[in-house]
Amino acid sequence: MTKIIDQMHPDENNIQKFDLLHTATPLEPLPRLGKHIGLKNLFIKRDDEGGRGGGGNKIRKFERQLAKMILEGYDTVIIAAHHQSNAARELVSTAAMMGLKSVIVVKDLIGRKTESFSSNGNRLLLNLLGAELIEVPQNVDFMDFISDLAAKLRAEGASPYVLPFGASDALGCMGYVDCANEILKQIKAMKGRDPDIVTVPTGSCGTQAGLVAGFARQGVATKTVGFTILKEKQDAVHGVEALTKQTLQELGSESADFDVFIDDCARDDGYGPITPECLDAIRLTARLEGIFLDPVYTGKAMAGLISQVDNKLIDPEQIVVFVHTGGLPRLFVYSDAFKEGA
Ligand SMILES: Cc1ncc(COP(=O)(O)O)c(C=O)c1O
Repeated sequence: MTKIIDQMHPDENNIQKFDLLHTATPLEPLPRLGKHIGLKNLFIKRDDEGGRGGGGNKIRKFERQLAKMILEGYDTVIIAAHHQSNAARELVSTAAMMGLKSVIVVKDLIGRKTESFSSNGNRLLLNLLGAELIEVPQNVDFMDFISDLAAKLRAEGASPYVLPFGASDALGCMGYVDCANEILKQIKAMKGRDPDIVTVPTGSCGTQAGLVAGFARQGVATKTVGFTILKEKQDAVHGVEALTKQTLQELGSESADFDVFIDDCARDDGYGPITPECLDAIRLTARLEGIFLDPVYTGKAMAGLISQVDNKLIDPEQIVVFVHTGGLPRLFVYSDAFKEGA
């Protein structure tokens, strides 16, 4: 039997990683959706495809984080999340494949009290995976709780490794440096030049920061636009900026120039509520292209892209790549939001 450690290899910067996606994720044209919204060169990067547990953007982040953890002798991975977390689903399934124990520390961050929220979507899949979910009381700080839990696990003989919220640290962001490199190669092969704009939904900021760092290292003019879903605009700008700097520093490219673009037009009241524009964007993408977006991140990012085109912030001729970061199971959790007109 091959050991899990034998499946790692050093990347071009000599940092150990797993190839959890095996190959570049597809980059596909969206001609019908593009025509409908007023873009001649719209593409989608399918980071919703590939990896264990249904895939999504955390898989790239885990490639180096879990390699480091295993090399340093840890056996248990802990992450802070909520009951419908895509990150938790992706982590528990990837950890299962590697024979690692995983613990998900959860808090009700959304306050949605529907039947499907507590039993369908990611929650159903986490149950199928046999995930260990430990509830943090509402009045207790996530990080205090996790450090007490880690101490308890250590006392029991385990060796726990705590991932940051959203798996967003420099090692995780390097997964999206890889994604930026893939996008440049794929668009160059199709269009003969670099993309003008890459869009992404932004939560804990690691996905956007990795893309920004990746394009900065290549010295291309590609602009990464993040549609903030979780944080207020200025907090998101600072979050992406800090992670981009850390990532560039870890890669020895601290002199690379970059700008951070955050648009908060799709955020509405924050994380939980679903906007009518998001529902329209999900229906449109399904009906014109046969692709499902999710109601918390990617549906809002598509609504944000449509709003930027409507407001003439994007030229119809520009090459635009929409990064699909996954999250399909959440569609089933918000089925009540689609009842009218779906
Ligand atoms: C589907 C989906 N898209 C985007 C994001 C945001 O990515 P990040 O936390 O790296 O900003 C998440 C985070 O949980 C997600 O689940």
